[in-house]
Amino acid sequence: MASTLGTLFRITTFGESHGPGVGVVIDGCPPRISLATSDIQAELDRRRPGQSRLVSARAEADHVEIVSGVEDGLTLGTPIALLVRNEDARPQDYAEFGGLFRPSHADYTYEAKYGIRAVAGGGRASARETIGRVAAAAVARQFLAAAGVEVLAYVKRVERILALAIAPGRVTRAQIEANPVRCPDPAAAAKMIRLIERVRKRGDSVGGVIECVARGVPAGLGEPVFDKLEADLAKAVMSLPATKGFEIGSGFAGTLLLGSVHNDPFYMEHGRVRTRTNRSGGVQGGISNGEDILIRVALKPTATIALPQETVDRAGRSATLRGRGRHDPCVLPRAAPMVEAMVLLVLADHWLRQAALAAAQVASRPGRRAPRRR
Ligand SMILES: Cc1cc2nc3c(=O)[nH]c(=O)nc-3n(C[C@H](O)[C@H](O)[C@H](O)COP(=O)(O)O)c2cc1C
Repeated sequence: MASTLGTLFRITTFGESHGPGVGVVIDGCPPRISLATSDIQAELDRRRPGQSRLVSARAEADHVEIVSGVEDGLTLGTPIALLVRNEDARPQDYAEFGGLFRPSHADYTYEAKYGIRAVAGGGRASARETIGRVAAAAVARQFLAAAGVEVLAYVKRVERILALAIAPGRVTRAQIEANPVRCPDPAAAAKMIRLIERVRKRGDSVGGVIECVARGVPAGLGEPVFDKLEADLAKAVMSLPATKGFEIGSGFAGTLLLGSVHNDPFYMEHGRVRTRTNRSGGVQGGISNGEDILIRVALKPTATIALPQETVDRAGRSATLRGRGRHDPCVLPRAAPMVEAMVLLVLADHWLRQAALAAAQVASRPGRRAPRRR
């Protein structure tokens, strides 16, 4: 199902960007996890537009309501439904597109597939759909944090400005949140901010790369064939709008190395198997090896720009489109919490799958007899 992700920790998002609201239903969250509205709201505040001059000016508080599955601050084990009502929808901003297909947006492909589309705001193709994902991931974060897992994403590159002074093993949330571009390298962040402001004034947009680290993930998460951990991570983050590439560990740069340089040698540390380097990005054979999981995601320049662009309408007549409305000149600062969210959701799901396997292994241990039938 196209709006559902996960096997045991399962989420379904719903809602259009300019409809009454957006949200998510989470099925499979374990009971007795501590969960307050403020835990979810804090994550939505990092995702929402209107945070700074670098992002869309749409002014929405994105207040979350917990509709089901939580009582007295604890999850019940039943489906958790989270709802955010749309408040600052302005469909008139889109009326002037007059049914023209925005180049590199989802307008044409939705029409080609369904023969109809939610014209205002891109409907399900809008980044507003990710509210449900980020809200669900706040729940996943609560339960993974209790197990010692921490997931952080930050802006690594905007166009050609690359942040080099970042140690993924030590980066903190405070460093990421210290500036509006969410780049924990302050010198690079200042340059990125200047670039995004310049581009916004010209009515144009820029893209870049987000890096995400998951620390404290034990060895053993991931399935060996189709649900390899890196395959599920790639699918999850590539399901975010505007994504154009995925890398894990050494990624494409690793192809330039010889095996003798690229391999991660093993050693023992306090009775635990470790690797000296982490070019694998924490995953080998589709299964986590206990090192930090490190991925990178490429995001394109925002499709809707104020400059004139060649396009066509539904009838195939050629036209010129000049984007209006409130758009992100660079999606990366807001996409960082979204990438974190997708990684959290995948890890929560694989955590539960591994816990189920461990429980089955205990149940099937030699010497354990099946209960006798009476
Ligand atoms: C955080 C974020 C913010 C976005 N904001 C906008 C926007 O303001 N205007 C726009 O045209 N696209 C925006 N997008 C991208 C579109 O949603 C996306 O490009 C479009 O649905 C087409 O899908 P595709 O780029 O994956 O092919 C944003 C994406 C993200 C991740």
